[in-house]
Amino acid sequence: MKFIRKKKRRWHVLIELIELHGWKSGVELGVLGGQNILNLIKECPDLHMVGVDLWEPQRWQESHRDAGGRSYAGVDLNRLLKVLKCRIVERGYQERIELLQMSTLSAASEFIDPIMRGSRPSFDFVFVDADHMEDGVRADIETWEPLVKVGGMILGHDYQKDFPGVIKVVDEIFPDRTLYADSVWGAVV
Ligand SMILES: C[S@@+](CC[C@H](N)C(=O)[O-])C[C@H]1O[C@@H](n2cnc3c(N)ncnc32)[C@H](O)[C@@H]1O
Repeated sequence: MKFIRKKKRRWHVLIELIELHGWKSGVELGVLGGQNILNLIKECPDLHMVGVDLWEPQRWQESHRDAGGRSYAGVDLNRLLKVLKCRIVERGYQERIELLQMSTLSAASEFIDPIMRGSRPSFDFVFVDADHMEDGVRADIETWEPLVKVGGMILGHDYQKDFPGVIKVVDEIFPDRTLYADSVWGAVV
């Protein structure tokens, strides 16, 4: 019998970490059609996720492709969001996935305010996969890292040559980062 080895994808990496650490709460910055978040929720029955995305084309990034800018011009992001919402309901995941249609930085302030009031909500992990340009990745890491529990992890996608900003920022902020399959990076907070 012939075994076909499937390529290890970002959700396989995350599922292993979620199971290993018993994580229950995570955030995905940049959701798009939900391929990653739906796989995580399907495979990890105790997991709750917040998914943040603008679901709006970033036309100004069109001229920054060489720097890893992604505009999503021409992608029907509204439709992707609609289909994702339907899948969440069909599969009964409403209680386990919260979608926030806003910028990653605005979303952080939704969770940061309570910190000021002393009740700090925090997540076991944050997966950074939104703006892939240097300034955007840096802002996402710096803004969201304080929302990760001590001992939790901040992770991200696309640590690869097409996204030089991701490599630069991750190496600067987390010299001890671990690199996983499918260009996932991760660092313990
Ligand atoms: C690479 S895709 C995410 C893919 C998804 N994480 C997965 O693994 O299936 C990047 C997404 O980030 C979103 N995005 C980019 N910049 C953003 C920002 N500043 N705030 C919120 N979402 C953003 C885009 O709309 C796009 O849907």
